[in-house]
Amino acid sequence: MPATPGVAVFGVPRTPVSGYEVVRMNESIDTLRQEFEQDFAAISDMETWKSVRDRYLARDSGVITTALKKLRDIPKEDRPAFGQAMNRLRTFVEERLQEKFAAVRDADLASKLQKTDVTRPGFPISLGAVHPIKQLQKEIEQIFVSMGFQVFDLPEIEKDYYNFEALNMPRNHPARDAQDTFYFDQTNLLRTHCSAVQVHSMEAMKPPIRAISTGKVYRRDPFDATHSPMFYQVDVIVVEEGITMGDLKGMLDAFLKRLFGPGTLMRLRPGFFPFVEPGAEVDISCIFCSGRGCAKCKQSGWIEILGAGMVHPKVLRMSNIDDSRYSGFAWGMGIDRVAILKYGVDDIRLFFDNDLRFLRQF
Ligand code: DAH
Repeated sequence: MPATPGVAVFGVPRTPVSGYEVVRMNESIDTLRQEFEQDFAAISDMETWKSVRDRYLARDSGVITTALKKLRDIPKEDRPAFGQAMNRLRTFVEERLQEKFAAVRDADLASKLQKTDVTRPGFPISLGAVHPIKQLQKEIEQIFVSMGFQVFDLPEIEKDYYNFEALNMPRNHPARDAQDTFYFDQTNLLRTHCSAVQVHSMEAMKPPIRAISTGKVYRRDPFDATHSPMFYQVDVIVVEEGITMGDLKGMLDAFLKRLFGPGTLMRLRPGFFPFVEPGAEVDISCIFCSGRGCAKCKQSGWIEILGAGMVHPKVLRMSNIDDSRYSGFAWGMGIDRVAILKYGVDDIRLFFDNDLRFLRQF
């Protein structure tokens, strides 16, 4: 709408009498005030508060600024009165809005809190879990701790002496061939079994000795469904006066029943290991078919599970145990192998691939 001289704020048509103009102007300001009151009464939250504030007070396009811009269109003598009236209106608007601010802000916060259910459970944080092999390792250690065994924590980088020499496998012994490993130098290697606990415990303790050690072992083996160049073992030794093969059998039977269930049967077959004499390979009744015969046990009803024997007198003597007085037994077992059987896993690599879809099942 084109600006008409003398017209007050809201486009009320100009009449030629100056005094009358002032009356019209004041009426317009009153109208404005009433409009503001209406808008103000409708304020219900921060959003409407802000829109009312901007509508009236915005620097460029607010109602009050827009009205003041019309100042030049009205007669000179009326301008001061009009300007003052507009300033009063602005102050009035500012004060009213200011008064309302705290209430609106509090109401806003209250309604936000009302919409927020503080009792709702938070987003679940998924925690890592203990690896199935580690779980089994701890379970096995626990069984032995409950039987009064000492748990040895031994290094994975082992001396040739403890891994081979003192276990009756001197340099060039053919049995070393089946346990080739990584040699750091002439004396240090990655241990190939946990049997070093036999030597370490006999050096560290006096009979009666009851000791175990569990952990990773390494061999120059392929990585396929049934082999891994790194796997887990447990090795056990008992040295006391009068220990016989019967003690070995009794203890193995109790242990295997605890690990695989009370119905588990066991048998010993002659076997050779340089550090035991006599030595035995130990089978359990097939846990898949309870000994009836199935594909897993190749119809035999038995599954080979560990190696065992009476500690070789030479081994006792090398660790300064009087073999005329003491005897002992020892046995060793693959923990991954137990896991494979217990959980029916058909590929050892699954335990080391760290695929969460697999690991989450334990
Ligand atoms: N150390 C043997 C291996 O890794 C297993 C073993 C056999 C351990 C007979 C023993 C034992 O303690 O008596 O193949």
